[in-house]
Amino acid sequence: MSSISKLEKNSNYLKVIWDDGEESKFNYLWLRDNCPTAHDKDSRHRMFNILNVSTNINPKNYSVGENGILEIEWSEGDHKSSYDPLWLRENCYTLKNKTKYVSPYKLWDNSLQNNLKSIEIDHDEIINSEEGLIKWLELLHHMGIAIVKNAPVEKNSAFKVLNRISHTRETFFKTPFEVINIPKPNNSAYTAHALRNHMDLPWFENPPGYQFLHCLVNSAKGGDSAAVDAFAVADYLRKNEKEIFDTLVSVPLKFKDKDYTQVAHRSFHSPAITLTKDGDFNDIRFSVATMDTLDCNPEIMEQVYKAHHRFGNLLHDKKYQINFRLEPGDIFSFNNRRLLHGRTEFDPNSGHRHLQGYYMDRDEIIGRLNYLKK
Ligand code: OGA
Ligand code: ZN
Repeated sequence: MSSISKLEKNSNYLKVIWDDGEESKFNYLWLRDNCPTAHDKDSRHRMFNILNVSTNINPKNYSVGENGILEIEWSEGDHKSSYDPLWLRENCYTLKNKTKYVSPYKLWDNSLQNNLKSIEIDHDEIINSEEGLIKWLELLHHMGIAIVKNAPVEKNSAFKVLNRISHTRETFFKTPFEVINIPKPNNSAYTAHALRNHMDLPWFENPPGYQFLHCLVNSAKGGDSAAVDAFAVADYLRKNEKEIFDTLVSVPLKFKDKDYTQVAHRSFHSPAITLTKDGDFNDIRFSVATMDTLDCNPEIMEQVYKAHHRFGNLLHDKKYQINFRLEPGDIFSFNNRRLLHGRTEFDPNSGHRHLQGYYMDRDEIIGRLNYLKK
């Protein structure tokens, strides 16, 4: 492990020169704010308040003490701080900002069709082992899709395996929501019609991060499933059709809940593609069924529709889409803000079809995976 070989005081940061030659800058306010005594040991919340010192705070004295610990006596507040060099190195933002961001996402296209086994995971493996649970979570996080096989087919039975991750996300569709064809449907999923590739609930400020469709019965003719990695499509556009991509990331579209049973009018503006602080893909908003009457500037309406049209066509292109048929006991699990999903129409007179749907927030998936991998 590296240790501190030299310190240099500058106007607003302490330069640490490590024995391996690396150099780190540690800002004084940052150091004071992250003094190891700043946090309550139980709640782990910061008790110290940076607003109680001035922005001129700096080290009156500083040295490398016993065990290589960095000791600082502050110019204000009669306070001394001690920093473990290991902690400093791990949290060094100089070095962090030099490393290139690596995306956790493995983008995929239709070639995944030849290897559907690679996204399958056995129900009991998740129930009985941490490795199984981790495998499921990694598929969800990296690929955005996993198909749980051999789950029970009793109603509500998916709670057990889902609760291995965390609690579900409630919506007015209830948990689980029943995907069956019903009279006077309040959602096109509750019909026997085909569903174009879509995400669920794009009109929420924060649409559910993950969706789980648990197949109980699928004996009707038709009703086959489709999935597409919209991050892969967005990636293609970013690399090859920059104008379209720029429109999709910059112009907010409008989405609206059209459910006639509701006593609330929910709607939200968001671009079709949003990016993270690292420029990676954050989420996708696409649903022909619930995109609302657009209200963008007249100067750009043509450009916006052309971009939407191009994106939508690629999102239904065979090159990107995989097709499969859900069997009873399958749980089709996917990132609802990355993948689009669809189905072909089915004939309700030829047999029965019943899926139960569940949602979960993305924080629960990533948070649980972080915890298990630490
Ligand atoms: C849904 C949905 C797909 C299906 O309920 O949101 O898209 O296969 N269902 O019925
Ligand atoms: Zn859906």
